[in-house]
Amino acid sequence: MKQCRVIALLSQKGGVGKTTVTMQLAEGLAGAGYRIAICDFDPQESAARWAAAASASEPFPASVHSMRGDLATLTREVNGHARRADMLLLDCPPSIEHPHTLAALELADVILIPVVPSPTDLWSTRAVERLVVATMARRPGLQGALLPNRVQRTALAGDVLEILGDFSLPVVGANLSQRNAYAQSAVEGGTVYRLGRSAEQAREEVDRLVEAVLEMTGETR
Ligand SMILES: Nc1ncnc2c1ncn2[C@@H]1O[C@H](COP(=O)(O)OP(=O)(O)OP(=O)(O)O)[C@@H](O)[C@H]1O
Ligand SMILES: [Mg+2]
Repeated sequence: MKQCRVIALLSQKGGVGKTTVTMQLAEGLAGAGYRIAICDFDPQESAARWAAAASASEPFPASVHSMRGDLATLTREVNGHARRADMLLLDCPPSIEHPHTLAALELADVILIPVVPSPTDLWSTRAVERLVVATMARRPGLQGALLPNRVQRTALAGDVLEILGDFSLPVVGANLSQRNAYAQSAVEGGTVYRLGRSAEQAREEVDRLVEAVLEMTGETR
């Protein structure tokens, strides 16, 4: 049996898109044929609430589990969910000091750090990067990458993206732009895959992100 891969979304700053990316990726990966479970490590329970907003006739395509506890408890629960899924997505709280984030660093195979291209986000990303790089030195095989989110076509965003290229972690070659479709999908408890033609470009972006994540997890299709 193939081993379940664990992908953690983490950041120091709130509101950078961890939950949004988790949910879009979940449906994108499920659509690609993978059994997905989401471990909601954030006490705010945004992922759980998001999935709960889906209609009974069109439920969210991945199970969402609210999780609490110390590293031993989380490890036990993650291992339990891993037996029934091909990939687990860990949606973390917005703090790199939070014990759940520290647990995610120990449990993940791949860490994605959403970054909104603004100067203040760059500063907080430096701190996350240090932590992830230090963890990678301890845990061979762990991969980390920066994921630009809410990207706008402005000169400032372009400058910040260029600076990201100087970070020691690689930048995922599939950005998510600033689009209403991402915010809209949360309201409906779905993802951009369930919205109409207006979300076509968002779907294409998520498809590219799915491909990039599959590559990072070593999946070849
Ligand atoms: N690419 C995007 N385009 C437009 N809006 C976005 C995008 N990504 C996220 N958002 C919006 O930004 C807000 C924060 O996103 P989200 O809740 O996913 O961030 P988060 O990192 O999980 O936040 P927290 O740290 O509080 O858990 C939400 O209102 C969401 O709809
Ligand atoms: Mg969140």
